[in-house]
Order: sequence, then structure tokens, then C-alpha cells
Amino acid sequence: MPNFWNVVKGRRSVRVYSPEDISDEALLKVIDAARWAPSAHNAQPWRFIIITDLDVKRGLAEAMASDWMRDLERDGVPSEVYRRLAEESIRRFTEAPVVIVAAVTMREMHRYPNRRRQRFEHLMATQSLAAAIQNILLAAYAEGLGACWFCAPLFCQETVRRVLRMPRDVEPQALITIGYPAESPESPPRKPLKEIAFRNYWGASL
Ligand SMILES: Cc1cc2nc3c(=O)[nH]c(=O)nc-3n(C[C@H](O)[C@H](O)[C@H](O)COP(=O)(O)O)c2cc1C
Repeated sequence: MPNFWNVVKGRRSVRVYSPEDISDEALLKVIDAARWAPSAHNAQPWRFIIITDLDVKRGLAEAMASDWMRDLERDGVPSEVYRRLAEESIRRFTEAPVVIVAAVTMREMHRYPNRRRQRFEHLMATQSLAAAIQNILLAAYAEGLGACWFCAPLFCQETVRRVLRMPRDVEPQALITIGYPAESPESPPRKPLKEIAFRNYWGASL
């Protein structure tokens, strides 16, 4: 067993991978870690699509990039800039040996007639998915793999649904790339504990 603290602190977002394939055994082991995350009502509202087929990866990456370019154009970003960003994004998602689309389903979550409480229920499902994604990232690192969490599907959910033939009530929220690392990023700085945690009252020192 790798040391827990080494895994928690050593994991980095790795965005560049060697072309080496990941065995199904290693891949399923990593994805299995998701099942052990905590979830609201133990509803396990997470769903994952594991993409290893190059054409599917490319189709998804191109469709998402085309939505992104449209958004950037509306923001007034110059075309040479958004075209370059889109190309980078397509390359990144197509070159990753495995792409996982992480989604939420509300099927087994509670249903409230009250819209405010329903919003919180949705938030709980999202929080549960985030816990599962973190398990995947940590498991990948523990297995010698690199991974990165991308938010892209949030901005183009309809497009992701269409390309991956997902039903309407399954909501893509994130994309995870996985592969054997071809870079070893430095750790981005962390805020000191005293800036993010307080004792008894907000602002009181630890
Ligand atoms: C919700 C979420 C969304 C993220 N989206 C992206 C993204 O779209 N592109 C990207 O390069 N990294 C993304 N990241 C990775 C963060 O940039 C990274 O976790 C952060 O810089 C800290 O670096 P570390 O993971 O190496 O500790 C995302 C992380 C989270 C938790």
C-alpha cells in the first residue's frame, strides 16, 4: 500500500502523457476507487463513460472545442487566439490514452416539490461526484498514472450528451484525462492552514 500522505500530497494534475496504453486491469482498478467515495443518501449519483477509442475521443474533443470557440468569439476573443486554444484542447483530449466523462444522475436522489431544496439536492449530487473524482485522481497516482480534472463538459453539456449518446437525465460535469505521465509538474502553491481554517469562529486563529 502506498503511504496515504505521499499519495495525498504527491498527486499533481498531469496533462501530458506517454502514448503507452493503460491495461484494462489498471484502468478498472482506478475507476473502482470512485465507488468507495461518500455520497449523499448513499445514492451514488455518479456515472462514468470511459473513452479509449481514438475516434470517440476526437469526436468529443472537436465538438467541445467548437462550442468553446463559439463562446470565446462571443466574448470578443480574437479568432487566432481562440483557434489556437481550441487546437490545444483537441490535442490534449485526443492524445490522452484514456478520457473519462464524469456525470451526475438525479435518479436516486430525493425529490422535493420546493425548488430551493431541490437545488440543494442537486448540489449534493454534484458534491458526491466531486468526491468520487478525487478518489479516481488519487487512485491513478497510487497506481503510477497521471490524471487531470477538466471542467470543459460543464460548458457544453448538450454537446457531450449528443456525442456520447447520454440520456437527458444524466448530466456531464467533468472530464478526466489519464495516462502514464510525460511531465512532473511542480506543486502549485497552497494557502497556509491559518488562511483557510479557523477555530470556533470565523477569522479566529487556529
Ligand atoms: C473542479 C476542477 C476543475 C478543473 N478544471 C481544469 C481545467 O479545465 N483545465 C486544467 O488544466 N485544469 C483543471 N483543473 C486542475 C487544477 O488546475 C489543479 O487541480 C490546480 O491547479 C492544483 O494543481 P494540482 O492538482 O497539481 O495540485 C481543475 C480542477 C478542479 C478541482
